[in-house]
Amino acid sequence: MASMTSSGKMIVFCIALAFCWSGVSAAKLSPTFYDTKCPQALSIINSTVAQALANESRMGASLLRLFFHDCFVRGCDGSVLLDDTANFTGEKGAGANFNSLRGFEVIDSIKSQIESVCSGVVSCADILAVATRDSVLQLRGPTWDVLLGRRDARTASITAANRNLPGPTSTLRNLISAFKAQGMNATDMVTLSGAHTIGNARCLFYRFRIYSESNIDQTFAASLQANCSRSSGPTDNNLGFLDVTTPTVFDNGYYQDLINFKGVFHSDQELFNNGTADAQVTKYSADQNTFFNDFAAAMIKLGNIKPLTGKKGEITRNCRLIN
Ligand code: HEM
Ligand SMILES: *[C@@H]1O[C@H](CO)[C@@H](O)[C@H](O)[C@H]1NC(C)=O
Ligand SMILES: *[C@@H]1O[C@H](CO)[C@@H](O)[C@H](O)[C@H]1NC(C)=O
Ligand SMILES: *[C@@H]1O[C@H](CO)[C@@H](O)[C@H](O)[C@H]1NC(C)=O
Ligand SMILES: *[C@@H]1O[C@H](CO)[C@@H](O)[C@H](O)[C@H]1NC(C)=O
Ligand SMILES: *[C@@H]1O[C@H](CO)[C@@H](O)[C@H](O)[C@H]1NC(C)=O
Ligand SMILES: *[C@@H]1O[C@H](CO)[C@@H](O)[C@H](O)[C@H]1NC(C)=O
Repeated sequence: MASMTSSGKMIVFCIALAFCWSGVSAAKLSPTFYDTKCPQALSIINSTVAQALANESRMGASLLRLFFHDCFVRGCDGSVLLDDTANFTGEKGAGANFNSLRGFEVIDSIKSQIESVCSGVVSCADILAVATRDSVLQLRGPTWDVLLGRRDARTASITAANRNLPGPTSTLRNLISAFKAQGMNATDMVTLSGAHTIGNARCLFYRFRIYSESNIDQTFAASLQANCSRSSGPTDNNLGFLDVTTPTVFDNGYYQDLINFKGVFHSDQELFNNGTADAQVTKYSADQNTFFNDFAAAMIKLGNIKPLTGKKGEITRNCRLIN
């Protein structure tokens, strides 16, 4: 260094600075990412979500779940949206997703509208993150600033989907470890489970609970039994509401259901079953504001799971296909 000219020192300094700066920016998402790159993007997403929810309010729940299932498998990289190819089997066929995930057409519609005004700029991963935020708010839930700048995966993994996504027969211990594996803690798990305040579930996932478990309200069990027979067969895909009291409103009803033993899945009721999550469930059941604040923060944390940034991944032209 001592023998270097001052301009030489400057160059070394600038290289070091650029390296550090790109190291930070590569990992960091920003709420203003598209403000100059595609100023129309967020309003296209919000209005398309509004149309979809006006047609069918369940779609808000379906989009929220799609985002969760994206983020828990290889990070929030849009991989859940990819169809199978000759080179990989996608996530849509995984146990938790097959015949179950919905909302792909809404994402496709948003993507094609955005491509027509700013082609190759807005990722499918980000579209899903924003559509989720807009869905929750439009169903009267909390809102948050979505961090943006995720890029899209060039591959997907059915194996990771089968391994990472928790199932409806999970114990509390299983649920905590599934979330831990994604960098989310037990508190986050209980908070994010409040998403089950909206949307539907199929009979085959709660049949055992409504016929065979004892920590369930009997009137509630009987009402679900009316549309879900004891043995598997034609009623397997019949739908029940995840929050029977306010099924299309994003509120703290899920936690009230749990303290009344009206959890739909075994995994839901595990959060209020004389275990370590009981206190948090009781708190949220009585305090919607705290639930909303915590949910918004946990959604941002969920959205920060392993995003592809910088030169990683791509901006897919069609959310179902790699470029
Ligand atoms: C804690 C572990 C979780 C388990 C075991 C679980 C399991 C399930 C299952 C089995 C269904 C019904 C699928 C069907 O019948 O086809 C479902 C629906 C749903 N899940 Fe979860 N889930 C969990 C956490 C979450 C999280 C963290 C979110 C979002 C942040 C979420 C959002 C939803 C929504 C909104 C629905 C309804 C979707 C619709 O109506 O289309 N879930 N979940
Ligand atoms: C989306 O639209 C709704 C009304 O449909 C509005 O209340 C909300 O503020 C909008 N959100 C954003 C982020 O623009
Ligand atoms: C409206 O929702 C129904 C399901 O309730 C769906 O079959 C239909 O495709 C939706 N239409 C539009 C235009 O989104
Ligand atoms: C599969 O991978 C090969 C080699 O990278 C590539 O040439 C081919 O286009 C890929 N096929 C599909 C359907 O993506
Ligand atoms: C879980 O993480 C959140 C924020 O990331 C933090 O506020 C909370 O205290 C953590 N909970 C536990 C049990 O570590
Ligand atoms: C019974 O299941 C069908 C098919 O999913 C659904 O349309 C209907 O709303 C369900 N009925 C009740 C009472 O939940
Ligand atoms: C929880 O504990 C209470 C009192 O100790 C007991 O009455 C109740 O049956 C227990 N609940 C479950 C689901 O084990």
